[in-house]
Amino acid sequence: MDYHSEFRRSIDNPDDFWREQAEKIDWIEPPKTIWQPTDNGHGQWFPDGTLNTCDVALDANIRAGRGDQKALIYDSPVTNTKRSYTYSELTDEVARFAGVLKGRGITKGDRVIIYMPMIPEAVIAMLGCARIGAIHSVVFGGFAAHELAVRIDDAKPEAVITASCGIEVSRVIEYKPLVNKAIDQASHKPETCIVYQRPQAKADLIQGRDFDWNELMAAAEPAAPVPVKSTDPLYILYTSGTTGKPKGVVRDNGGHAVALNYSMNLVYDAKPGDVYWAASDVGWVVGHSYIVYAPLFAGCTSILYEGKPVKTPDAGAFWRVVQDHKVNMLFTAPTAFRAVRKEDPEADQLSRYNISSLKRLFLAGERLDPATYEWLKEHTGLPVLDHWWQTETGWAICCNPVGIEMMATKPGSATVPSPGYNVQVVDRNGSQMPAGEQGQIAVKLPLPPGCMMTVWGDDERFRKTYLEPISGFYSSGDGGFIDDDGYVFIMGRTDDVINVAGHRLSTGEMEEVVASHPAIAECCVVGAHDDMKGQIPIGLVLIKDGATIDHDELEDELVEMVRDKIGAIACFRRALVVDRLPKTRSGKILRRVIRQIADGEEYAVPSTIDDPAILEEISEQFRH
Ligand code: COA
Ligand code: AMP
Repeated sequence: MDYHSEFRRSIDNPDDFWREQAEKIDWIEPPKTIWQPTDNGHGQWFPDGTLNTCDVALDANIRAGRGDQKALIYDSPVTNTKRSYTYSELTDEVARFAGVLKGRGITKGDRVIIYMPMIPEAVIAMLGCARIGAIHSVVFGGFAAHELAVRIDDAKPEAVITASCGIEVSRVIEYKPLVNKAIDQASHKPETCIVYQRPQAKADLIQGRDFDWNELMAAAEPAAPVPVKSTDPLYILYTSGTTGKPKGVVRDNGGHAVALNYSMNLVYDAKPGDVYWAASDVGWVVGHSYIVYAPLFAGCTSILYEGKPVKTPDAGAFWRVVQDHKVNMLFTAPTAFRAVRKEDPEADQLSRYNISSLKRLFLAGERLDPATYEWLKEHTGLPVLDHWWQTETGWAICCNPVGIEMMATKPGSATVPSPGYNVQVVDRNGSQMPAGEQGQIAVKLPLPPGCMMTVWGDDERFRKTYLEPISGFYSSGDGGFIDDDGYVFIMGRTDDVINVAGHRLSTGEMEEVVASHPAIAECCVVGAHDDMKGQIPIGLVLIKDGATIDHDELEDELVEMVRDKIGAIACFRRALVVDRLPKTRSGKILRRVIRQIADGEEYAVPSTIDDPAILEEISEQFRH
């Protein structure tokens, strides 16, 4: 089968196409109906099928004879630990943790928040939830207590699973005080908090609410997988939107398992027994899909790496992991390799390691800049494959379909639409743009299996954000174009979402924090270019009349507020005091122009601007 015929079949005959893919996973009750439209303008995949995602990920591999094969390898340079679990061992641990959850009264449909560093217990907690049909919501460890509180109030979890600490390059971050603060702040109070104690910091446990992971595990009975409907939620993963309130992306069980299993062949050409490494974090969608679920669905060995690309201990860290575990495919964000290139421009570290097991490099999460692409190609000699996707879709919308046919790569392009995604470039009315012309990237409905079902607790927000802007399409929020050969080029977000070191953040959310400072009258935050992180946020602030505060002091206070409310990963480090903000006559802040000024780009003075002189004033301030 070549790519073009596979793609055409997926669009012209989706029922047959996805029925075939569904047959490749273990169902409890296989689906008879493949696709069913729903009232919200979207639809459901495999609505009458039942399965258990944890069973597909673990027990099915034991049934297939892979019980003694490694399922998970934990490699932690920050604690100097390496540990591995076979499929049988991981299944035992997960079944016992599922028993722990059952013992705490948690059942199908209950929510469980997981706020943990990159340790095997995070994976065990996720799969343990899936085993009993509980809905997990993993919150990235770099988020501050306030962000955790917002998610607790939205998901209303019965339990929070955490660890005593996370370990960053130069410091140990105690998680438990953050969890306590978040629960104090939240209106919803989870009944149970399970804490995995790490030797680097011991957490104090609150009597009656907090329980020690090891003690509960020692007393637990293993629990069997519980049948769930294909359409029951597997997890909620919060992602940044344009407002301060993060969106809870809801993923189903059946569509997710079928799509992710398909993607392991299509996108990564991974076979059972391959060693697959997604160097990300379980707190992001990359971690959900390609550290935890997909490699296990496909019978691979997944690497869980608790470290950074640099400084743990050096820029050879990734090559060392590839060598030590004979990694076959490595997937990370371009920013990770920009960090490596900065410290080791000639890739001297590479010659210290044997990376002959590695077949391909996969990059996603942000634009793959040509310099990083060329550097990787030159120094590794491997195919460097960009692919484009989002938290909302859970797997690649565009990729180089190497499992079917390796296409020629074009720098700057994520290659071609994955089968199932009818990707088009359209204007605001949904009319198709000619090849080569930029517009909004949209996917003609229906979306393939694995994509979000709705926004948790807010179906209207789901419709308004994704389905209503362009009738008949899913709006991706990204802009770009498709060339004459059908290659898709993603040029960046068309909304207020920015991408900082591969992390998706909302400038609107930062503006809410900055605006809450008592001296601030008005503000705006834009994402300015950064050589290493891709983008970094910069604030422009207007001080209230009569407020007297030193500008440096104000900047320090704002930086601290964003760290405290959102977290260090926001990387908000600059706030410029300005006299006025450039606006249209109708009062809309001209964020695009501000961003262009911050980046030192040429900009066109918009005809709708209230007072063009402001732009020169702001340029002057940036020059200083
Ligand atoms: N828990 C607590 N704090 C965290 C954290 C976590 N899990 N992850 C990051 N932070 C903190 C960092 O310690 C840092 O704090 P500081 O400002 O006090 O130094 C801050 O958040 C910013 O972190 P980061 O953006 O990671 O910057 P960095 O300079 O430490 O590292 C990179 C830069 C490029 C090495 C790093 O961002 C990286 O490895 N990126 C890979 C991208 C990735 O995994 N993306 C996920 C999607 S694929
Ligand atoms: P997230 O939901 O955190 O995975 O972020 C998704 C966003 O990251 C997308 O909407 C894009 O803006 C950006 N993105 C992801 N992958 C790519 C890519 N390969 N090229 C360009 N942008 C990307």
